[in-house]
Amino acid sequence: MEIVLTGITTTGAPHIGNYVGAIRPAVAASWREDVGGTYYFLADYHSLVKGSDPDQVARSTLEIAASWLAAGLNPESVFYRQSDVLEIPELAWILTCMTAKGLMNRAHAYKAAVDENEARGNRDPDQGITMGLFCYPILMAADILIFKADKVPVGKDQIQHVEMARDIAARFNHHFGETFVLPEAQIGEGVAVLPGLDGRKMSKSYDNTIPLFIEEKKLRKLIMKIKTNSQEPGEPKDPDDSTLFAIYRAFATDAETAAIRERYAEGIGWGEMKQLLFEYINDHLKEMRQEYARLLAAPDHVESVLQQGAEKARAISEPYMAEIRKAVGIRSLTDLR
Ligand code: TRP
Repeated sequence: MEIVLTGITTTGAPHIGNYVGAIRPAVAASWREDVGGTYYFLADYHSLVKGSDPDQVARSTLEIAASWLAAGLNPESVFYRQSDVLEIPELAWILTCMTAKGLMNRAHAYKAAVDENEARGNRDPDQGITMGLFCYPILMAADILIFKADKVPVGKDQIQHVEMARDIAARFNHHFGETFVLPEAQIGEGVAVLPGLDGRKMSKSYDNTIPLFIEEKKLRKLIMKIKTNSQEPGEPKDPDDSTLFAIYRAFATDAETAAIRERYAEGIGWGEMKQLLFEYINDHLKEMRQEYARLLAAPDHVESVLQQGAEKARAISEPYMAEIRKAVGIRSLTDLR
């Protein structure tokens, strides 16, 4: 059975787009009987690439961990913090030593940074680019390979990184013998990409998000701000061109969605639709929000959950790392004859 693994960069509390696109499907996978195991981790070493503020890194780790737990992650799932599994950075170094620099030159994130320098007319195309950014895909490969992941659910922007992990694994296997499983990216089919307040894709970089666990009053306020058009109540409206509808559909059942489609045809007013959406989402999130608040107030508890996860993770990574070390020649001298 397949091993599913994904990492979550620890940058701030999630929004409802993250919930619908990543957290909810991952939580669902954690409960499936036909999956061989789920590994979800907080990618705090990755967050250093963005040069984040230290307190922010720690705070985000708590917020993201609390969010995933509140969303109902199966306790059987291996849920851990990347930095608690030292085999990951160790493997990253070994992989760094056998990865062509040219492969990293082709990584989108690095190329985008170079393009930006060039567009700005900087004489040094690498200005402001750290080795962390440059080697980011190698650390990600180590994350994936150390747990023999078969399937890696990611957003479209991360497909290239998973493909690089696969290339790196194949190259290693070729040189040192069959060691790694070749991973594959998994793009959520039928998983909605939510529009944000302004109708563009919901994203922190557009500042158009609805935070997942925002308090009730603020949730209402944000929903009232969602962009609509100037159509009057009574005029038939096109649900497929409506942000309110897209968000509703991401939470509702098929039957409920069909009923709202009907209301659009009958000309439901925007004000009424906003109120309806608010009530629906609020009902849906209420319990999770309470659990989230409880967890945020209990960082010691969250820490102990992460420590238990790290123990489960290390039970896999430690013996496997011993094999990998041996394969590349990092061996005890007593093994020399
Ligand atoms: N780079 C991923 C992102 O920004 C997060 C991540 C880190 C990840 N390591 C991973 C995702 C390993 C999948 C597998 O979204």
